[in-house]
Amino acid sequence: MTVEFILNGAPVSVRSEHPHLLAALREELDVTSAKDGCSPQGQCGCCTVMIDGKVQISCTYAVEKVAGKAVTTLEGVDEVERTRYSDAFAACGGLQCGFCIPGIVMRAKAQVDKKGAALERADMARHLGAHLCRCTGYVKVLDAIEAVAKGTLVDAGLPGGIGTSGAKYEAVELTLGDRGYVDDIRIPGMLHAALHLTLHVRADIVRIDTSAALSAPGVVAVYTAADIPGQQYVGIIYKDWPVFIGEGQRTSYAGDVLAVVVAETKQQAREAAKLVQVQYDVLRPITDPVAAIDDPELAVFGTKSNVLSVSAYARGDVDEALAASAHVVHEVFQTQRIEHAFLEPESTLAVPGEGGHLHVYSGGQGVWDDRDQIASLLGVGNDVVTVELVSNGGAFGGKEDMSNQGQTALAAFLLQRPVKCTLSREESFLIHPKRHPIRLEYWAGCDAEGHLTAVKVRGIGDSGSYASVGMKVLERAAGHASGPYRVPTIDVECTAVRTNNPVCGAFRGFGANQAQFAMEGVMDRLAESAGISGWEMRKRNVIHPGEVWGPGQIMDDGAGGAEVCLDQAKRHIDAALAAGKAVGVGLGLKNSGLGNGLREACAAVVRFRSNDGKVEVRHGFTEMGQGVHTVAIQTAVTELGIDPARIVVIVDTTRQLGFGQTTGSRGTLMVAASVQNACQVALAAECAADVDHYAEHVVDWTQKLGDPAVPNPTIHAAFGFAAQVVIADRSTGAIEKVVAIHDVGRAVNPRLCEGQIEGSVHMGLGYALTEDFPSDELGFPTNMTLRSLGILRPKDVPPIEVELVEVPQPRSAYGIKGVGEIGLVPTAGAVAAALHMVDGVWRNTLPMRRPTTDD
Ligand code: FES
Ligand code: FES
Repeated sequence: MTVEFILNGAPVSVRSEHPHLLAALREELDVTSAKDGCSPQGQCGCCTVMIDGKVQISCTYAVEKVAGKAVTTLEGVDEVERTRYSDAFAACGGLQCGFCIPGIVMRAKAQVDKKGAALERADMARHLGAHLCRCTGYVKVLDAIEAVAKGTLVDAGLPGGIGTSGAKYEAVELTLGDRGYVDDIRIPGMLHAALHLTLHVRADIVRIDTSAALSAPGVVAVYTAADIPGQQYVGIIYKDWPVFIGEGQRTSYAGDVLAVVVAETKQQAREAAKLVQVQYDVLRPITDPVAAIDDPELAVFGTKSNVLSVSAYARGDVDEALAASAHVVHEVFQTQRIEHAFLEPESTLAVPGEGGHLHVYSGGQGVWDDRDQIASLLGVGNDVVTVELVSNGGAFGGKEDMSNQGQTALAAFLLQRPVKCTLSREESFLIHPKRHPIRLEYWAGCDAEGHLTAVKVRGIGDSGSYASVGMKVLERAAGHASGPYRVPTIDVECTAVRTNNPVCGAFRGFGANQAQFAMEGVMDRLAESAGISGWEMRKRNVIHPGEVWGPGQIMDDGAGGAEVCLDQAKRHIDAALAAGKAVGVGLGLKNSGLGNGLREACAAVVRFRSNDGKVEVRHGFTEMGQGVHTVAIQTAVTELGIDPARIVVIVDTTRQLGFGQTTGSRGTLMVAASVQNACQVALAAECAADVDHYAEHVVDWTQKLGDPAVPNPTIHAAFGFAAQVVIADRSTGAIEKVVAIHDVGRAVNPRLCEGQIEGSVHMGLGYALTEDFPSDELGFPTNMTLRSLGILRPKDVPPIEVELVEVPQPRSAYGIKGVGEIGLVPTAGAVAAALHMVDGVWRNTLPMRRPTTDD
């Protein structure tokens, strides 16, 4: 059975068995500007097309219904109009990862076609309610649409050197959906894989029967743990995460994979994956992290304890200091689990080559980790596997661990055919690690004037089953537990606990958000006790250069940014109070880089091509919307004085230029420094053509947290600082505005930097107010649709005003501090303070308001 319709002006015919129009467009017709962020949920808007001139979500549109109709995708839009949109989005910074943008452009086009210059911003925001963007906070998206509607002239040019604003690298291609993500790549003879996940979070696997799946239409192979030629376990730090759970082994969380099914089409693979039969011996799930510490049974088979890690340090006698304090507070805070909700679900394509080589396309945040883990799984040397980075559609930390890379690579390796596996939205929710829920108990004191005397913290984080980087997240929560303040005595202990709940790991802010939500709450309560304002309390305690910070680090001159941000917040607070508003202020810091004694290194290559006059800048970090490629260009322009249009950025995975993950706000610092060094090498060689001008950047001066032999460890090489002011209506509690004042050291590209901050404030408001990803008593997540996560929609995002502060970071190229993670650190604390002014209620639990909409 086939269905005929008109696509972009030409007649086409597709098979009728596709689950929806989007699948027919992408899988059969290879039209890929419409992206699949959540099919068939119909909740992200990435798949928006026009049918007979009306915008439609194509992943909920039945294929039969399209018969005889005219479908328009971005590929079919008039070239002049395409340019108008791509120029506006590029010029306004209206995109980051870009995955959501083609769908948004189709929606915008419908509105602009209808209303032209009369299109109002608020009206457009309401229409964007059918769309999600996890990166931008919608501010610059709306700027771009407004520019198109009003016919405003824009400059879509690339930026110049460091400190200049300009379009993001590949902005035009991303806006139009022309720059492919992994799922957009097609290889002749490619097969499709789908995973079969466990039905129980803690169960012994008695038997896996793949016979029914194997005999399903189109199925080529089904693989299980028994087919692994090399090591079964992977993991970024501890190798405790099985790529498959096999017969005779035990599951540990809802994302455990039991089998991979490979078939001719994606639909066939997914249907057949449901036919895998598993006999379970179901065990009691361990889901309470506090009880798990003393539980005699282990959440994860083969481990020695349910305690994954303990991070602790102390200075002085805290109990004595608390007893002598004029004011003391004791509070318990509880933060929630959060899903990253990057718009592009994980996708991997593995292609066997000559001589047994395997080429893997991955959107992961650490392609060398992916390579090493895949090689170990296959039982081959690292040189047998190349992992090519495909810039992804958002990650925020959620693509550090392998998701489906291992199973896809195994299938391609064993079959010696190209295999692609793209997760459904539900599978993505189940598999990748989340933000930790942390219980934080605080005791804190100050003297009669509000000077902090002591802080004592006990934190317990639910890390889920496998380690991922859970111990590092709790280490970071411990390190940041006292916020950007001077505390004379301190005693902190944070524990990561293994349970059978979803795995928790890296997520923008990495433990700092949770700890500083609590610390800011403590600061406001102490301020009230001392009879001073929240701002005054912070002013009296803010850390200065040369002073000792929480874990003992003597802060460098970069720390001066904390007080500058706080001082700039004052006029916004005063103005809002004078206008009768409720106001809260939060102050935060976040390290950049890994720190804690780890040696960090990365390299870059600059190469002048004689054949076409282009200049290659090669580095090793993942572009995931944050703009690291644009940083590389701006650095090269600054150092070499060349036209940015000559530069080609390449993530070079044929040799090891990067070390570790693109994480911890370190991409900008490390890429700028290594490219700067490589340019210097090139200049010294008079920019000789067709030569690799290579240089490294190394940070090897940090020290471990909590080593009693080192009383003042430099645990981090750099910090970003931010003050945020949240302004609310006194009668309704509605958030009316957020002012985000950020010390970024040096803004490489102020417009893109501002966009990063707007996006993270949007994420921070969701974290504070509505977002949640709970799991039930059986260890399964309960919010399994994008809409149920409680992410703020465009019409609910208040105006966000960004002020950039530039207090340079010593020992960092151009003084850069990094901005990726700090953005939402102070937000929740500021929201809690503003809402307290509205109704007098202190809020210790996140989210403060539950989602009001569901499916
Ligand atoms: S893919 Fe259709 S709305 Fe998300
Ligand atoms: S730019 Fe919108 S999701 Fe990334």
